[in-house]
Amino acid sequence: MHYRSELSIIKALKELDKPGFEKEKTVSIITSLTRMWLTRSIRPFTFTDDYDEEIPYSDCDKLGLYVHIPFCISICNFCPYCKEIYNRDKMNAYIDALIKEIRIVGSQYNEKKTVTSLYFGGGTPALAVDRIGEIIGVLKEYFEITDGIGIELHPKNVNPDVLIKLKDAGVDRISIGVQSFLEKYIRTLGRTDVNADNLKMTLAKVPFKTVSMDFIFALPDQTFDDLKYDIDKAFEIGANHVAIYPFIDFTFTDSKVKAMTKKEKHTLLDKVTLYFKEKGYYRSSIWTFSSDADAKYSSMTRDNFLGFGCSAATLLKNQFKINTFSVEEYCKRIESKTLPTSLTIRFRKRQRMTYYLFWTAYGMKVPLKDFEAFFGVPLKKVYGFEIWLAKVLGFIKEENGVLVMTMKGAFYYHYYENFYTLSYIDKMWGLMRKEAFPKKMRL
Ligand SMILES: C[S@@+](CC[C@H](N)C(=O)[O-])C[C@H]1O[C@@H](n2cnc3c(N)ncnc32)[C@H](O)[C@@H]1O
Ligand code: SF4
Repeated sequence: MHYRSELSIIKALKELDKPGFEKEKTVSIITSLTRMWLTRSIRPFTFTDDYDEEIPYSDCDKLGLYVHIPFCISICNFCPYCKEIYNRDKMNAYIDALIKEIRIVGSQYNEKKTVTSLYFGGGTPALAVDRIGEIIGVLKEYFEITDGIGIELHPKNVNPDVLIKLKDAGVDRISIGVQSFLEKYIRTLGRTDVNADNLKMTLAKVPFKTVSMDFIFALPDQTFDDLKYDIDKAFEIGANHVAIYPFIDFTFTDSKVKAMTKKEKHTLLDKVTLYFKEKGYYRSSIWTFSSDADAKYSSMTRDNFLGFGCSAATLLKNQFKINTFSVEEYCKRIESKTLPTSLTIRFRKRQRMTYYLFWTAYGMKVPLKDFEAFFGVPLKKVYGFEIWLAKVLGFIKEENGVLVMTMKGAFYYHYYENFYTLSYIDKMWGLMRKEAFPKKMRL
């Protein structure tokens, strides 16, 4: 059956020669060809509704935890994440279910499992500020967290009361969704203004190890000076880490904002990267920069992770699974003592290697020994040609056994990641927003 999708690629490839071919089709062809090349197979990534009640995480090293809280006071029309309008009772019922999910998964093994970090994302997880300590307490019954706890905040959540409660609960890293300090972009995005002076005062009163701020770049007509203003302001008012996310126009959102062209984006990203370098900032991942090397905030660059809550994903040695996007269905499954898993892919080895490289590359570095420790085979033996080619093209260089991405490599990764997001995440999330438990999905 899967040959059907490959046949459509061949057909679509022919379309490329015709005038007026569609961009979406090209993106899909490029990502499918890359997938086939890297996995050395024409088999697509196949996700099904068949799932494990027992999650095999006990033998996973460098395991991170993620908890999703899908509620927001108002909905931004550009946002692809799983969320709905906040309702106190609904959120409390959801958190009761979330705690049960943690207990079902955590109690599978008798020993406490050591994990690296814990991140709360959303939605707007600080809406649950009075229950964050309770959730952390339950997680700590089953997991030993060695590398800190982070939470995403809407700028409106940043007040001393919320920050003190979070700190008391054990949170030591915060990430604030500023998007821009400039009114014109806040208006473009349909958000409310961020009061930088208030943020500064609050952050000075309640300090955290990492204070990260999110910005969206490549918005229509955005200039380097606009971004420079945002970045300078962020560090001036108390951030020690910033994330610059390229704007992505998801097909299922109602956003009217159009993304920039590749050339404009390239110029802007290069200028911003050089500016960070000039200031002596450290590039901690493909889109994050920090003023001190200890300041990190990433819920993505981990070898394995366990996700709890609606839409939360779990990546383990041999499988990737994702929970349902429906709050109602999530609670119903938990009520019947069943896991809320919606789709699972069981990896073939090359597929897992491709996933590993894709996620590790966010951190701009791939240590050769880490890949070998994970898969039991040297990276150069598996992808010798690709590494050689990436070096020749100036995308990576090798330093003391580590493949390090160059600025050029980082741009193309950024660019390709956009394709990946549109052909994989967009399709997967688009489907899961419509159906709580789809039977099958091929990417
Ligand atoms: C869950 S939100 C952060 C916390 C909070 N909900 C807020 O909005 O302030 C995660 C981040 O994703 C980024 N984001 C959301 N939609 C995006 C899009 N279409 N393209 C690029 N980045 C996006 C924003 O920078 C946002 O801060
Ligand atoms: S950007 Fe943040 S506040 Fe806006 S809808 Fe998404 S999660 Fe909610």
